Amino acid sequence: MINVNIDPRHINPVYRPYLNDQTRTQIFFGGASSGKSVFAAERCISDILKGDRNYLVVRNTGNTNKKSTFNEIRQVIYNWNLHGLFKINKSELTVTCANNQQIYFTGLDDVEKVKGIRPIKGVITDVWLEEATEINKDSYLQLTKRLRGISRVPKRLTFSFNPIMRTHWIYKEFFQNFQDSDRDYRDPHLAILKTTYKDNLFLAPEDAYYLENEKNEYYYKVYTLGEWGVLGHLIFKNWKTANLTGLRDAFSTYYNGLDYGYTNDPTAFARCAPKDNKLYITHGFYEYGMKNEQIAAEAKKTIGNREYLRCDPSEPKSTAELRGHGINAISARGGPGSVNHGIQYIQHFDEVIIDREMQYAINEFQTYQFELNKDGEVMNSPVDKDNHFIDALRYALSGVSFRPSDSQEDIGDLRTAMGLR
Ligand SMILES: Nc1ncnc2c1ncn2[C@@H]1O[C@H](COP(=O)(O)OP(=O)(O)OP(=O)(O)O)[C@@H](O)[C@H]1O
Ligand SMILES: [Mg+2]
Repeated sequence: MINVNIDPRHINPVYRPYLNDQTRTQIFFGGASSGKSVFAAERCISDILKGDRNYLVVRNTGNTNKKSTFNEIRQVIYNWNLHGLFKINKSELTVTCANNQQIYFTGLDDVEKVKGIRPIKGVITDVWLEEATEINKDSYLQLTKRLRGISRVPKRLTFSFNPIMRTHWIYKEFFQNFQDSDRDYRDPHLAILKTTYKDNLFLAPEDAYYLENEKNEYYYKVYTLGEWGVLGHLIFKNWKTANLTGLRDAFSTYYNGLDYGYTNDPTAFARCAPKDNKLYITHGFYEYGMKNEQIAAEAKKTIGNREYLRCDPSEPKSTAELRGHGINAISARGGPGSVNHGIQYIQHFDEVIIDREMQYAINEFQTYQFELNKDGEVMNSPVDKDNHFIDALRYALSGVSFRPSDSQEDIGDLRTAMGLR
């Protein structure tokens, strides 16, 4: 055991009672920015220092760990001035403490890999499932099976997530005795804590402002109040996920689209191929803070400099810049009706198949819904949120979704770009 005094003032008061809690299943759920992830990372480091626990941190897809949980854990190490005590391996995604206790990070896209994890000392005692609503029940069951084995300390599973839909398996499995008005729940095997941004004493004021002024009822319920959401009229039901690794370059024609973002919104790129009335979504990226040069470099990896990239028409200047970086970028068709036109085009496929590594795309498909009016009636316009990847996809498909006579705008745009009018 390494004796480090952790100043309790670092930890949000609502979570402090859980710092040494040994309950087998612990659930931290609730609204956005309520401190769930930071606390899970803090408790992990505190446990590791004690010298008898090893952690496995999982997300549904491994590639999302690097930017989220791995960074959260590193932040805690640096904020608590403990970097002298930890070896951080960025390429293997492991964190090893001077007492040889370890933290591993993995995605459930490769549950087999979990079997191969052998900590230096003892076994994996703790699993933290971050954004656990992304995980399906099968992967969860497989994971728990692979973690059997004897350990000196009680094994624990810790969940953190936003309650995006009441029909979720997590609700059915763990929330039978939890009333909506409850703040916490406890039995010998299960502890649940619901938190909101109000519980986070470290929150930036502008984050509170956004949450308090949320106009959409569903988003207010889930992300501001931290309550189980009921999805309204879902826009896409014709989709599934699959491992498309083997199909990445298998199609003769691809369509590519880009939605610009920067600080508050991500930049999203979509690459897809329609075939036999199915739409295969094989590539993408989704990142905050990307400059146009980086976007060009990233897009070039998959589309080279010949394929068209159809971009958000509201930013022609950025699109011109992408052309300057050697991308065959043009503005997608926008204007009145183009959103619904694009949606209907995506809906017309028998099936949309999304590569299972593209969690950001899956998340958007799962919750993209039509606006409801005051009386709860379904409107004809989608909720303008969590639609960055979907917008990129609409732009991509604007290359085929409009009739030939409609598609003059592409050529028109190229002409403008070339100074021909
Ligand atoms: N103990 C802490 N010390 C310092 N800052 C904190 C602490 N807890 C939370 N924060 C700040 O609050 C922000 C939001 O916290 P966190 O990311 O843990 O929320 P969350 O509940 O996981 O949100 P989401 O539901 O959106 O994932 C953090 O990015 C960090 O800036
Ligand atoms: Mg979080």
